[in-house]
Amino acid sequence: MAISGLGYFAIETSETDKWHELLTAVLGMGSEQAAGVTFYRLDEWHHRIAVYEAGSEAVKAVGWQLEDESVLDEMVASLQDAGVALAPLSPSLCDERRVTAGYRFEDPVSAMPTEIFYGPVCEQLPFTPSGGISGYWTGEDGLGHVVYFVADYEQAKRFYTETMGFKVSDRIVWDEGEKDATFFHCNPRHHSLAVMPPFGDIPPGTFNHLMLQGLSINDVGIAYDRVRDLNIPLMMELGKHTNDHTESFYLVTPSGFGLEFGCNSTRVGDHWQVKTYDAPMIWGHRSP
Ligand SMILES: [Fe+2]
Repeated sequence: MAISGLGYFAIETSETDKWHELLTAVLGMGSEQAAGVTFYRLDEWHHRIAVYEAGSEAVKAVGWQLEDESVLDEMVASLQDAGVALAPLSPSLCDERRVTAGYRFEDPVSAMPTEIFYGPVCEQLPFTPSGGISGYWTGEDGLGHVVYFVADYEQAKRFYTETMGFKVSDRIVWDEGEKDATFFHCNPRHHSLAVMPPFGDIPPGTFNHLMLQGLSINDVGIAYDRVRDLNIPLMMELGKHTNDHTESFYLVTPSGFGLEFGCNSTRVGDHWQVKTYDAPMIWGHRSP
């Protein structure tokens, strides 16, 4: 029993126009509007990002994909064994998510609104991004990754490995041990999930960032120039990570959390060895 990958991501926001500009004009995604929600397409799936119009900023759903109905059932049983209360996605919510079936629950570690599902609806025609972006690295590696600040680091490691079936990729401990991150994979993507204990005045349960992967450094550079031209605030400048070798930058989304856009990420293969690094970046990733 294991998760196939990060499937989709949905948010609620009062900043729908700014999100639309970011996802289309900067990042080249396609869009389709419905009542109160805009769907954003970046590969063969109908959509992987949904932006709901609301009065405030919140993550609405982190969607984890399972291979098929039987693996979904196994994951439901594993979560119930761990004492997690799940509710099936209603037929209308499955239609909205463009999935065959799924369940919703509150992740007991991060408190994130979380969904598990199988059977995404895919489109007849291939997706072509706009604005010179060549495309998104998804497929068996999933949408990208999410990073949470969690109150109980040990509980997090237990829950995500033993209950949800992730495997540890590696860990980074830096700034004299003040900062610590553990990375988890469920497919060849180096990590689909990472967790950090909070530092400074960050409350536990904070959503840190969503990572999306372009197909080349040109995609990342073109988007970086647009972010600079539009005065979209940066969280971190261009840089390269030690552990997954991703070349990326981080922007502050209109909802306040981060979005990392990167490329050339290492993939986990056979004979993977867990390591601990003493810094998150080989170069760059400086505060703006
Ligand atoms: Fe990241």
